[in-house]
Amino acid sequence: MLLYSRLTQNEKNMKGKKFYIHTFGCQMNENDSEHIASILIAAGAVPSGEMEEAEIVIINTCAVREKSEEKVFSLLGRLQGLKRKKKLTVGITGCVAQLYGSQLVEKKPFVDFVAGPDCYQNLPSLIPLSQQQKVISTEWNKNWSKEYHPLKFRQSKISAYVTIMEGCNNFCSYCIVPFTRGREKYRPFEDILTEIKDVAQRGYKEVILLGQNVNSYLDPRSGKGLPQLLREINSIEGIEWIRFLTSHPKNFTEEIAKVIAEEEKVCRQLHLPLQSGSNSVLKNMNRGYTREDYLKIVSLLREMVPEISLSTDIIVGFPGETDEDFQETLSLVEEIRFSNIFSFRYSPRPLTSASKRKETVSLPEKRRRLIELQDLQKRIQLELHNGLIGKKMKVLCSGKSKKGDGMYSGRNESYQVINFVSRKDVIGEFVEVKITSCGPYSLNGEALNP
Ligand code: SAH
Ligand code: SF4
Ligand code: F3S
Repeated sequence: MLLYSRLTQNEKNMKGKKFYIHTFGCQMNENDSEHIASILIAAGAVPSGEMEEAEIVIINTCAVREKSEEKVFSLLGRLQGLKRKKKLTVGITGCVAQLYGSQLVEKKPFVDFVAGPDCYQNLPSLIPLSQQQKVISTEWNKNWSKEYHPLKFRQSKISAYVTIMEGCNNFCSYCIVPFTRGREKYRPFEDILTEIKDVAQRGYKEVILLGQNVNSYLDPRSGKGLPQLLREINSIEGIEWIRFLTSHPKNFTEEIAKVIAEEEKVCRQLHLPLQSGSNSVLKNMNRGYTREDYLKIVSLLREMVPEISLSTDIIVGFPGETDEDFQETLSLVEEIRFSNIFSFRYSPRPLTSASKRKETVSLPEKRRRLIELQDLQKRIQLELHNGLIGKKMKVLCSGKSKKGDGMYSGRNESYQVINFVSRKDVIGEFVEVKITSCGPYSLNGEALNP
């Protein structure tokens, strides 16, 4: 086994090799897969739409919950079967790769290479090498080391992901991300602007800035932060909507609220993970804010940006979470009325400090709390959606809707999903849509096009 540290002279041609990437996890992983694909295409490889047809299969993995990891191992099982039938190079990238490194090839000997998030630039030399010996590449750079190359591959032709920082210094007690993505490092300001100008020229209408903790973004050279970055992007011609995620409540400043209020293209929408409504749970999670602090941010935002749409993440069943603590989460969700929540059962993760805590909430009870929370949110969403019936709104159409012929799908400024009828093809365009009906998870309407 070779511990791969640097780009070697062994680089061989990847020309014509068909590759397939399966992506798990967050938007940053999706953007990383676009980077991996672009790097491989630049080296001469060809993307394949079918896993079965590819000669190289890469699984870009997520480790955030036990379930995310299980999905990776189940896909690996399928690949093992495929590899018995044909010549195939199998690689693991992403957070599971970073976390387990060489243990993965020990456990799964049919895996040819393992590459962590800071090593993707080496893939064109690492993949050919992996046909002779196992290759493990998981080293980290302390500073931003990725050079800017325009991406040759993006999933969407309308909305572009742009990573602005990576890593996390927060060490929330339940979270594995600081161990898989390392400490925070920030992409140079000018690089970010160059990429956004490039996508604007290619016709993209929306950019979504990504980072585990975008509020703490700081340009390594000039010291400019997220507010200045958003203001500069606002003046790039062609881009009409700007979003950013994820924001940490502990680093949320009035300046960011001001930018959302003042800059026309910055969407009046914010994903602000709450995790729990109970102060004692928040303390044990090491979140660095209280229920009251969170409420203060919400009221500041709603005062400055009355139409703002808020979404959040919530964990139920954290060790020590009592029924009263859970009730506090429910009451906060009821009070704030988020337009969307992503909710999860607590899952102990290796290396995290919470994994050393005794689990006090049984699996059936975690399930029960999750259902109760999701039922409450479903009711709230249905009420919010009902209030939108008859309203007109701007929608960025992303494609055809699965709901039927002549139906399209897109999102509004609040990031709500809208399925609508349109007489002409409006994919990639902004359309005015009148809302006619709704369910708890989406809105339905008709385009007001001529
Ligand atoms: N950087 C972002 C996203 C982190 S991961 C942030 O700070 O919000 C996305 C979400 O997964 C988290 O917000 C949290 O709600 C959830 N999550 C993380 N670790 C978890 C764990 N061990 N068990 C259950 N949910 C978890
Ligand atoms: Fe994980 Fe917390 Fe960092 Fe988010 S802020 S990535 S939840 S440690
Ligand atoms: Fe998962 Fe890594 Fe993203 S653990 S959520 S893929 S940062």
